[in-house]
Order: sequence, then C-alpha cells, then structure tokens
Amino acid sequence: MRRDFQEPARCRPDLLIGREELFADAREQLASGGSVLVHGPAGIGKSTFLRALAEEYGATAHTVLRCSATESESHLPFLALADLLGLVLDEIAPHLPSAQLTALESALTGRGESSLQRDGLALRLAVLSALRALAARGPVLLVADDLQWLDPASAELLGFAARRLEGTPVQLLCAVRTEGPESQEYDRHLRACPPDTAAVRLGPL
Ligand SMILES: Nc1ncnc2c1ncn2[C@@H]1O[C@H](COP(=O)(O)OP(=O)(O)OP(=O)(O)O)[C@@H](O)[C@H]1O
Ligand SMILES: [Mg+2]
Repeated sequence: MRRDFQEPARCRPDLLIGREELFADAREQLASGGSVLVHGPAGIGKSTFLRALAEEYGATAHTVLRCSATESESHLPFLALADLLGLVLDEIAPHLPSAQLTALESALTGRGESSLQRDGLALRLAVLSALRALAARGPVLLVADDLQWLDPASAELLGFAARRLEGTPVQLLCAVRTEGPESQEYDRHLRACPPDTAAVRLGPL
C-alpha cells in the first residue's frame, strides 16, 4: 500500500502554466531514477512546481516523506528530520541497531540531549539505516521544500545519507530559493543531494 505522509494541498500538473518543458525534463529525470533540485528566486513558482511533480511522481513511490522548512523555525535542530521520519519511526525502529535508534529517538523527540557533536556517527548512520529500511519495502520519494531554511543539523544528516544512497531506491525532490540568475548558491545544496541530481532553474514565466 502506498503511504504519503503529510500530504499537502493538491496541485495538478495540468494546471501548471508555462512550465511544460521543464516539467517534462524533471519528470524524465525522476523516471530514470535520479533526483531533482528546483531553484529560483522568491515567488517564482518553486513550491507549485514541486507539488505538481510530487503529486504525479509520488504516485509511483511506495513511501513519500515530506518536509517544508520555514525561516522562523530554522533554529530548531532536527525539525526537518522529525517532519520526515517522525511518522515512520515506529516502523523503522526494529531495523535499527539500538545505539542508532536511541540517538535517532532522542533527536526526533527533542527529549534527550541529542546533538550532532555527541551522537554524530550514530545519528548519521541512523538516518541512513532508516532510509534503507524504508527503501527495502519499495521506492521512497523524499520531498523537501525551502531547503534554504532547513535546520543545519537536519541538512547535515540528510546530506550524509544522500551521498551514500546510490543504488537504493530513494529519490529526492527538493526546492531552494536562490537570488540572481548568476547565483551559484544552489551549488551548496546540490552538494548535499545524491550524485545523480539534476538542478532545474525556474525563471520568470
Ligand atoms: N506555473 C504557474 N502557473 C500559474 N500560477 C503559478 C505558477 N507557478 C506559481 N504560480 C502561482 O504563483 C504564486 C507563487 O508560487 P509559489 O508559492 O510556488 O512560489 P515559490 O517560488 O515557491 O515562492 P517562495 O520563494 O516564496 O517559496 C502562487 O500563488 C502560485 O499559485
Ligand atoms: Mg515556495
């Protein structure tokens, strides 16, 4: 059975105006097993594009995990990770070695004193194990909007996992706000994505 956690307001791909070519490219990239990073200036239509793509491609995934960062909450460590994995924690728990599970639980619940310094390796490996455990049941699509506001701890953990997931059916579909057309800011985010990620720049319609 397909599971889509925190399914947002629907956005039908056929209602997306003026993005047909980029949408087709991004769809092809996902269909070939790669990941997609959408970027562009404020208000250009990134979230709309992301939602439409997630709506269409997510239908083929077994598990869809989502997070959408906000500026006012970006100081909260592990928040994005909690959004992504909080609802599947019970399911993945039996597949994690106990040191990893303890580290992940304290990070996600905010109860323990988890930190990247103290639990660094256990936490990184826990996120990797969690995604691998989910992927063993079927393709996973991880949808993350507004990466520029992702809390740094979650960004670090996701980047660690993303670089090690080659050959595993876990795909990322992300969006990040970048400024001028010359901007290479998205490079930093691209480096935190799986190696086979295509960047899609949205310009004015
Ligand atoms: N292709 C499109 N056709 C028609 N309307 C669109 C399209 N893309 C975006 N819009 C509309 O433009 C507005 C801004 O879009 P959206 O929120 O997706 O931008 P964004 O790039 O995610 O903005 P932000 O940088 O603030 O996150 C929304 O009202 C959306 O409905
Ligand atoms: Mg947006």
